[in-house]
This record gives sequence, C-alpha cells and structure tokens, in this order.
Amino acid sequence: MIEVQHLTKRFVGRTAVDDVSFEVGKGEVVGFLGPNGAGKSTTMRMLTGYLPATMGTARVAGHDVFSDSIRARREIGYMPESVPLYDEMRVVEYLNFRAALKGLRGRAVKENVGRVMDLTGLKDVQRKIVASLSKGYRQRLGLADALVHRPRLLILDEPTNGLDPNQIRQVRSLIAQLSTEHTILISTHILTEVEMVCRRVIIIHRGKIRADDTPENLARSSRSAGMLTVEMKASAEEGSEALQGLAGIRRATAVPSAANGGWQQFEVKLDTGADPREEIAELTRGRGWPLRELRANQATLEDVFVEITQRD
Ligand SMILES: Nc1ncnc2c1ncn2[C@@H]1O[C@H](COP(=O)(O)OP(=O)(O)OP(=O)(O)O)[C@@H](O)[C@H]1O
Ligand SMILES: [Mg+2]
Repeated sequence: MIEVQHLTKRFVGRTAVDDVSFEVGKGEVVGFLGPNGAGKSTTMRMLTGYLPATMGTARVAGHDVFSDSIRARREIGYMPESVPLYDEMRVVEYLNFRAALKGLRGRAVKENVGRVMDLTGLKDVQRKIVASLSKGYRQRLGLADALVHRPRLLILDEPTNGLDPNQIRQVRSLIAQLSTEHTILISTHILTEVEMVCRRVIIIHRGKIRADDTPENLARSSRSAGMLTVEMKASAEEGSEALQGLAGIRRATAVPSAANGGWQQFEVKLDTGADPREEIAELTRGRGWPLRELRANQATLEDVFVEITQRD
C-alpha cells in the first residue's frame, strides 16, 4: 500500500528526513515512532503529497504521490498534526465542504458525512460551530474528515495528542475498529497505544530509520531483555560466583545496597535464549540460601525506544 524509497527532505541547514525506505502492506497497522523533531510529520506530509521531497520516491496504492498526487490522495485519509479547521463553519457544513473538495457529489456527500459522524461520535454536535468544539471533538472532526471519502489508507499524525485519558481510550478503540478495514500508519508518543494497536513499529531518529519490526521482537532485542533479578540471603561474593557457575549465565552482579537483613540482590545477564531459573532455585536450596525473588525482566517497547533514541 505504501512504498517509500530513499525519501529525503532537506530544509535550509537541516536534513529532516534522510534516505528513508520502507514498505507498508495492505491491511498492516504500523506505528511510526520517534522523538520530537525525528522527522515523522515531515515523512507523513511527503507521503500525503503536501510537501515535495528533495530526493526519493513514494507510492501509495501504486500511484506516485508527487507525479500522480490526485490519484494517490484519493486513497489516503490524512489527519495532520494540527488539524486545520474552518472555525466559523458548523460541524456538518465543514464535513460537507471537505467531502465535496474530495470529489464526492450529491447523495454520496450526505451518506458519507452521516457515516463518519456516526463513526466518530459527532452526531450530537453536528450543528455546533467548529470554533466552539473542545480539543477532543476537534480531533474527532479531523478523523471524520480523514475518513469521509472512504480511503483505504489512513495516515494519522498523533491523533491522540492533547486528549485526556478518556478521550484517548475512545480514539484508540476507534482506531482499533478502523484497523479491520484500513491500512494505517500512525505516529504517536504513547507507546502503550502502539503495543495495543500496531503489529509493526518503525522507529525514526534524526531522519533515519533505526528499527522496523514487531513490538515483541523489538522488546526482545532490548539490552534489558535476557536479564534476571535474584534476591537471596548470600554474600555478594559467594552469591555472584555461584550464579556465574551455572550454565546459561553470562554474568552475575551483586547490586550494591545498604545492609538489608542479609538479603542481597543480583542482576543476572543470561546467554541468548537461556532460562536457568530452575537451576537457580536448586542452587539456593542446595546451599541453604533463602530465596525471595527470582524474576525475569520483561523489556518493553519503551526500553527499546529509549536505547535507540538516546544512543547518540
Ligand atoms: N517547514 C520547515 N522548515 C524548516 N525546518 C523544518 C520544517 N518542518 C520541519 N522542520 C524540521 O525538520 C525536523 C523534523 O521535523 P518533524 O516535524 O518532521 O518532526 P516530528 O518527528 O514530527 O516531531 P514531533 O514529535 O515534535 O511532531 C525538525 O528539526 C524540524 O524543526
Ligand atoms: Mg510531528
């Protein structure tokens, strides 16, 4: 659905997007992550034909977004970072106007505007002036606008930005609902949201793609994956030596701490794929060391995000 090759955008004195290539298949829901200024919005604006590229190509549903932008845009529902709304119009007028701009005519306008107002929960405010809408409703209106021409691809730039937790939930469940029928590229800073709705994650940092995989694989690749925490009554030296003697354990380090009734914590780094928890339990039993914690550390998408985006 999306094919991007060597896409590059240079602004005066700064390369915002630097030789980016990726593909998104039909039906995929992809999270597009990166810190502030990473190049997410710039990439999305190029993909949607709103910003010319300095170099490279982008195709949507087979149409070049630069040379064939009208056809490409017909396939795309784009919700920009700050939704540019016409403040003086009523909600329903605004959507009618947008639908007409996107080429809908006659009954198709009414039907589709009705459909997206239902979908996004805007029916009750359809007579309100856009300027009077709360932030949450403005976001919904942006989403309704993106959906009105029944695009196959949704490009959503931080759709939950600035919403309260209840509104975030509503938008998230709406996106989950949309994901059954649409291909979606969504940028956000809320990583739990990504873990809930995206089967794939692309991380961009300083204009370059640094990771592209499932959230699970990314978490597994994190430095904090493959670690155990062990807390037992053993001295720092004896404990770490004994742990290090077990197969599958690369390194065991006693965590420095104040006297704690004889309890000592150890950070254990494992060989790839190893799980020596049973052997550790046996060891402590054999040595008569009381054990009160034996925990496999679950790396999160946040761990990976921080590692990748703070590396340099
Ligand atoms: N029109 C412009 N002129 C000059 N520089 C720009 C322009 N638009 C974006 N930039 C710069 O390009 C870089 C990437 O910006 P972009 O908006 O794509 O980041 P982002 O990943 O969307 O960040 P955020 O999470 O803050 O939305 C930033 O350094 C930004 O200042
Ligand atoms: Mg942005």
